[in-house]
Amino acid sequence: MMLSTAIDTRAAADWYRRNRQRSEALFDLIDPAAYYTRPILLRNPIVFYEGHLPAFSVLAFLRRGLGRPSVDARLEKLFERGIDPDSQDAAVPRSGASTVWPSREEVRAFARACDEAVLAALPDMPSTPEAIEGLYTALEHEAMHQETLLYMWHRLPYHQKRRSSTVFSQETRSSGELDQRPPDLLTSCKEIPEGAAILGADRRSVLFGWDNEFNAHPVHVPAFEIDTLPVTNGQYLEFVNAGGYSRRDLWSDEGWAWLQAEGVRSPAFWITRNSPDLLISCEETQWRAMFEALPFPGDWPVYVSHAEASAYARWKGRRLMTEAEWHRAAEGATPGHVDFAGFDPVPAGSCPRSASIHGVHDLIGNGWEWTSTIFGPFAGFSAMRSYPEYSADFFDGQHYVMKGASPATAKELIRPSFRNWFRSNYPYVYAKFRTVR
Ligand SMILES: [Fe+2]
Repeated sequence: MMLSTAIDTRAAADWYRRNRQRSEALFDLIDPAAYYTRPILLRNPIVFYEGHLPAFSVLAFLRRGLGRPSVDARLEKLFERGIDPDSQDAAVPRSGASTVWPSREEVRAFARACDEAVLAALPDMPSTPEAIEGLYTALEHEAMHQETLLYMWHRLPYHQKRRSSTVFSQETRSSGELDQRPPDLLTSCKEIPEGAAILGADRRSVLFGWDNEFNAHPVHVPAFEIDTLPVTNGQYLEFVNAGGYSRRDLWSDEGWAWLQAEGVRSPAFWITRNSPDLLISCEETQWRAMFEALPFPGDWPVYVSHAEASAYARWKGRRLMTEAEWHRAAEGATPGHVDFAGFDPVPAGSCPRSASIHGVHDLIGNGWEWTSTIFGPFAGFSAMRSYPEYSADFFDGQHYVMKGASPATAKELIRPSFRNWFRSNYPYVYAKFRTVR
């Protein structure tokens, strides 16, 4: 899968330590009383993740990459896998509700033992493809989990969290404090000419990529028109108040079933006070920020599920972009509002210097970008040895590709070939969207 080449083990050790410090800071945001709770019903309780991160590094790097033995076979087994059932009911049998979780002291002692073993193995690790793949699988896995932990922390009641700025370069900023963007951007579109997009990564030119990033291949993309900015909360409010959540014709069968089953009437990041059939006013609606409920941020990108994004696009007579169209529109774009820059988004279009050469803003940052592309393998796909179930378990036609990055995406994960994916009815991710025609 990877280049066989010497690697900078000191840089890798620095990254490992940086990862571990940030993870520790993330767990310190939680009131210890919430340690065994499950902020998202579809996911494991918090205790699982504090053990899972070091357990997985041992599995991917030491065991699968270097052929070394376990540090603690029992705890590595307990902390091996997360869950992704398709509904909250389905979560029950796999929920671990009957699992007896270890004390936090035991989890932390296990984590220290794993860290010591990983750091001891790094300096003279062999530069074999297996070892390099295992190492970067472990490093990127932890960085990815930091974002998914923050999704969960966003769901916790405020009294279970403690504000901190130790790992974040800034706190949530409210609208109007950033570079002022030209007012007409919000409703403007850009024409992207016909051309080729290169999807995927070339195995010969990268040290590491996940299995779903290979092989690199060109895709011809016809010309299309795309919104300059992502859809904002203010724009999405019009859809909600136009009865968007009651119109069967705007939703897929799966999306509609989700609305009915869970009574969804607005985005999961909105705190609304209205009864279901009344209009929502922005005065009475708040944004569920990480540490407090904020006044409705009309000019921030709306974070919604794929089903909600698709319904809005249909309402507009438009559609979501494909994965290949993202590559075309994002040509020359650079990251903006990423790498733990904050706990929440900033107003759409706040980072004009990160716009693509086509003048499209916020394609790499301020929230992942939903695409209409069903997650699947590229030609030449082969499951990776260090984590064979990473992608292959999700090639089920029920997950959609997200591109770009969010405020909680580590800089090491930001590259054009990186692909993220979620079910269409999962509303807790930092994912925005825009429409195309
Ligand atoms: Fe994991």
